Amino acid sequence: MKICVLPGDGIGPEITAEAVRVLRALDLKLEMEEALLGGCAVDATGDPYPEATRKLARAADAVLLGAVGGPQYDALPREQRPERGLLGIRKDLGLFANLRPAVLYPELANASTLKPEVVAGLDILIIRELTGDIYFGQPRGIETRNGERVGINTMIYSESEIRRIGRVAFESARKRSKKVCSVDKMNVLECTQLWRDVMLEVARDYPDVELTHMLVDNAAMQLVRNPKQFDVMVTGNMFGDILSDAASMLTGSIGMLPSASLDEKNKGLYEPCHGSAPDIAGQGVANPLATILSAAMMLRHSFNDEAAAGRIERAVKKVLAQGLRTGDIYEPGMQRVGTRDMGDAVLAAL
Ligand code: IPM
Ligand code: MG
Repeated sequence: MKICVLPGDGIGPEITAEAVRVLRALDLKLEMEEALLGGCAVDATGDPYPEATRKLARAADAVLLGAVGGPQYDALPREQRPERGLLGIRKDLGLFANLRPAVLYPELANASTLKPEVVAGLDILIIRELTGDIYFGQPRGIETRNGERVGINTMIYSESEIRRIGRVAFESARKRSKKVCSVDKMNVLECTQLWRDVMLEVARDYPDVELTHMLVDNAAMQLVRNPKQFDVMVTGNMFGDILSDAASMLTGSIGMLPSASLDEKNKGLYEPCHGSAPDIAGQGVANPLATILSAAMMLRHSFNDEAAAGRIERAVKKVLAQGLRTGDIYEPGMQRVGTRDMGDAVLAAL
């Protein structure tokens, strides 16, 4: 099994290194090769998603990604920004289904800014469409109309795009508590009226799964009011981007949240939900657990190895139970550790 490793920028290399160590410790037949994506790729080649990376990523069975971006790239032309590399690889590999589980580990109930009783036992799965919507719609740009600048983006979804992400949501719900909440803004946006109509059509093939709908503004409120009402949430690219950040805070820290981005054949890219955290890059203090948990998702979804995925997840639970905490999830009385120590502890727990 071939894994393309893309450490990226900021804390990316530090956290990816720990996930790679964990994968190696499992004694599976994994070939790992590194390539450049994001700002580091711009620095080296001028292109955030260079040809060599494209080749390696296309040939691999799965991709493990750290994070991309940094303030030093903000002034570059848009085609050269690190984020363009990330969007480029998602689109190039056809990774339309982004799974973002938000699970609260009981040990971290106090790390959330919400009351423990609101988040205790939380286990939701946000399914975000990842290759369509306003992120990719045309026309787009900034141009001059009537003597002033206007900014343009286009929210667009075809019914086939909605249907395939809908199926992923219903299939996922079948393995969980058989509830899907589809999030849209159909009271204002035609694009999401179609989203709702197509979700209702898809639901006919899944009579055993309960489908509900929620407007995105209400969904944002309900996520912080009573998040445990949700099981699987399915939504478009932009709403999913926003709601998944909100959901991450329910679990105490975005430093804990893994993600999988899958194509139609379960080839996937696995990355933490958080960014490159330039403010703490290079200090060895970043939380590697989201990336390590992303490696577990890789084993589960791309390599069909539930046993190995479970081993990693149990090892993470164990180190949390032992009281080890990186700065983002630290509470008084716990043992504060850095990135490497946290990786060591997970390896020991394995
Ligand atoms: C995410 C990130 C990206 C996105 C950025 C870095 C382009 O916020 O993966 O959620 O908006 O998709
Ligand atoms: Mg985001």
